[in-house]
Amino acid sequence: MKMLIARLVLATPLTLLGGATHGQPPQPTEQGQSMQRMLADVNVIRAFVYGGGKREDARTAAEDLLAWSNRLAALFPPGQASDQYVDMSAERARLAPVASRREAEKLLAAVRNGKISAVGDQLVVTERNGCGACHLSTVH
Ligand code: HEC
Repeated sequence: MKMLIARLVLATPLTLLGGATHGQPPQPTEQGQSMQRMLADVNVIRAFVYGGGKREDARTAAEDLLAWSNRLAALFPPGQASDQYVDMSAERARLAPVASRREAEKLLAAVRNGKISAVGDQLVVTERNGCGACHLSTVH
């Protein structure tokens, strides 16, 4: 069965997505779980930027986000993901993990050493160019 990837995901603020599991089967896929973890990491970093969260927690989350980014190519193999998900062209499946890793690395660097405002700026870029590499039709 082909699934439409949540291109909607970024149209809806990502913070709202944690609850978007209504009516889904109780056994989430590994791919779905990986996404839930990445979303949770983004939210921890957001809490550091806007909600007085700890830098230490944000650093752990940024490391986890990078680790998941490094697994995306295996979770969404170019030859298969484009058959399974309507929105996932082979090109996108090939390029998105690279973009995701690059943006996760920049975010981790900012979380380690940067001003909070710089972390906030990079978080926006990471969501657009990293997550957006799959979730936005305008980004490759
Ligand atoms: C390599 C492509 C790719 C990247 C990069 C990516 N996603 Fe996804 N995402 C998908 C696909 C494909 C699905 C549908 C997965 C499924 O449920 O099988 C998905 C689903 C989701 C879901 C719904 C998960 C569920 O089933 O409960 C959320 C939330 C999500 N992504 C958030 C993110 C966030 C946050 C980022 C960036 C940190 C991100 N995604 C980056 C491909 C990607």
